[in-house]
Amino acid sequence: MKVGIDQIGYFTPNKYVDMVDLAHARNQDPNKFLIGIGQKKMSVADPTQDAVSMGINATLRYIDKIDQSKVGLLIFGTESSVDQSKSGSLFVKSALKLDPAVRAFEVKEACFGLTAGLMIAQDFVRLHPDQTAIVIGSDIARYGINTAGEVTQGAGSVSLLVSSNPRILELNEGHSAYSEDINDFWRPNYSKTAKVDGKYSTQVYLDFFKHTFSDYKRQKGLETKDFAAIAYHLPFTKMGLKANRLAIEGVDEETNARLMDSFTASKELNANVGNIYTGSLYLSLLSLLENGGLKAGDLIGLFSYGSGAMAEFYSANVVEGYENELDKAADEALLDKRRKLSVPEYEKIFSASLVDPQNNVELTSDEKKGRYYFAGICDDIRQYRVK
Ligand code: COA
Repeated sequence: MKVGIDQIGYFTPNKYVDMVDLAHARNQDPNKFLIGIGQKKMSVADPTQDAVSMGINATLRYIDKIDQSKVGLLIFGTESSVDQSKSGSLFVKSALKLDPAVRAFEVKEACFGLTAGLMIAQDFVRLHPDQTAIVIGSDIARYGINTAGEVTQGAGSVSLLVSSNPRILELNEGHSAYSEDINDFWRPNYSKTAKVDGKYSTQVYLDFFKHTFSDYKRQKGLETKDFAAIAYHLPFTKMGLKANRLAIEGVDEETNARLMDSFTASKELNANVGNIYTGSLYLSLLSLLENGGLKAGDLIGLFSYGSGAMAEFYSANVVEGYENELDKAADEALLDKRRKLSVPEYEKIFSASLVDPQNNVELTSDEKKGRYYFAGICDDIRQYRVK
């Protein structure tokens, strides 16, 4: 039975910092950020954009194209949760006016959260082929001003619709998962910024990639040359480049060139949005679909990684006519229409976002008309409004 990704919507807030400006402000060679880290720009969320509002905005990108009455499951994956109890899914459900019969909840395992949701959604749709599932990954990556991780920040959300008649990608059954209880990246409840051992995290990511990729190929009787492309979790694009170099070790020239070209296609959106944690792999997938010249039937490998750490490799095939479901021009416009912040402006917004919002103080947003935003807390209850 066919199950897969029917729609993909992404959203990123309307402000960014240019990595060349950031490098100058931090007395670094811009090429360290542009080439060494592989990032060009990073989106910045002001206090009126949070995981929930971004998740709503990402889902709104395709909501008019789907039958909302069929959505039976709504999963919200995040590590930037807005509440310890209530799930982000319920705010989204309310904004999208979904049927009360929808099963709605939130999941967490660092950047693996959206993949975890997708795997649950896949099983759900296999059991209930007449229903669909919305799976959202939404995050703000915050490491801190003047830290090594600062250049790997970002903000955004990716929303997927999973159905039994997928118009973009057909997911293949089976996967290779691998986990270990380690401390490479985490965010304690008392901290608004992440704790990270970046070099260790990179090493674990690469080790888990090697393990799951070779195990998946063994399970399925596949070789590296069978993949038209591999999409990676990209907290910064250099991380995926390192994994891709491992993937193509010892392959023939044609496969080498193809997987390098497809990697280049897959990093364009991420290099300009920055790290969006849970959504990063799926933003890269969108970038690949829009820039990679893929054909119907092509096999794509997907590598998901969440610190702590949990990884999974799985695959999907491109569906005929997938390009008609994408809107590359609108996706690029979302980036082009952002306002460039000076580094002091970004620092001010960053510092403001570390402070909890005051009760009964209304916030106003400068996002464009039709976008959802966080309007502040009223009697301890979060308010979401449409502009
Ligand atoms: N031109 C080109 N490349 C340059 C350069 C220059 N002028 N200066 C440095 N570089 C390269 C380095 O050689 C290095 O490349 P390599 O990774 O291939 O060895 C790269 O830039 C990074 O420089 P380095 O000094 O090693 O790193 P750093 O101490 O600045 O930290 C991270 C980089 C990625 C470790 C840090 O930003 C971080 O911890 N980010 C968070 C990581 C994360 O999110 N992990 C968890 C999620 S999976």
